[in-house]
Amino acid sequence: MAEIVAGIGMSHVPALGPAVEAAKASNNPDMKAFTEVGSWLEETRPDVVVMVYNDHGATFAFDMVPTFAFGVGESYQPADEGFGRPAVPDFEGDPELSWHIADSVVHEGFDLTICQELDLDHGFSTPMKVLFGRPEQWPVKVIPLAVNVVQQPTPSARRCLDLGRAIGRAIRSFPGGGRVALVGTGGMSHQLQGERAGFINPEFDKQFLREIVTDPENIASYSNAEYINQAGSEGAELVMWLIMRGAMDAEVTEELSGYTIPVANTAAGVVAMRNKVAVHA
Ligand code: DHB
Ligand code: FE
Repeated sequence: MAEIVAGIGMSHVPALGPAVEAAKASNNPDMKAFTEVGSWLEETRPDVVVMVYNDHGATFAFDMVPTFAFGVGESYQPADEGFGRPAVPDFEGDPELSWHIADSVVHEGFDLTICQELDLDHGFSTPMKVLFGRPEQWPVKVIPLAVNVVQQPTPSARRCLDLGRAIGRAIRSFPGGGRVALVGTGGMSHQLQGERAGFINPEFDKQFLREIVTDPENIASYSNAEYINQAGSEGAELVMWLIMRGAMDAEVTEELSGYTIPVANTAAGVVAMRNKVAVHA
């Protein structure tokens, strides 16, 4: 059976990649959690990363936006977001585990859109860069799960936590074995448009950073309107962290946590956790 070895929540704003590289070069103590999360993950020896992210109009134009789009491909390319394909390596998929997860969760009632092909935008590649730097080849396989957090109606935080629980059950029942990490991306508070452009809410972010570890039920109880009010229209991306959290056990240990303002015009956060009772398959 496969083992879930790590859960990470992390912002995906493109400026986070260079900010983390600069923080590593200058040993910035305020960015410690961001600069160390990659080596922390490496120690958990993952074979595959399930990345919960959102597409920002690069792959799904606004005339066709699936609520939950799930990759089952052999490989994926980085998306052209308007400047040509970025110079990062292609991503190797894990079709066997992907299909197992898809079969399991669809039969549990979570109707995923199954994608044989999926170009992956900065929502996916920024966390990959923060976690793995600039390798010639990524050291893990990937499974992308794209969530619609950009066009109403978007799925609720409650639904995201429940989907994560189903994904966790699916991974733990995978007969092929392997070590799986999950990453929930997006946030923290930010709004890129309209009257509240530049809105940041550190109080809410810090509560979210605590409760994603200790009380996910509470942050799953907030409506989408509450997320938009508290975290900004794009900060509502945070519901994706709940999919990662749902796949983890009820009892987890917090391994590192960090918060910084601003990265570009967003609040950025990171948290890493592992299951309290680790299974060593
Ligand atoms: C930016 C992009 C994002 O996807 C996001 O969540 C926040 C900021 C940006 O381009 O600055
Ligand atoms: Fe985003």
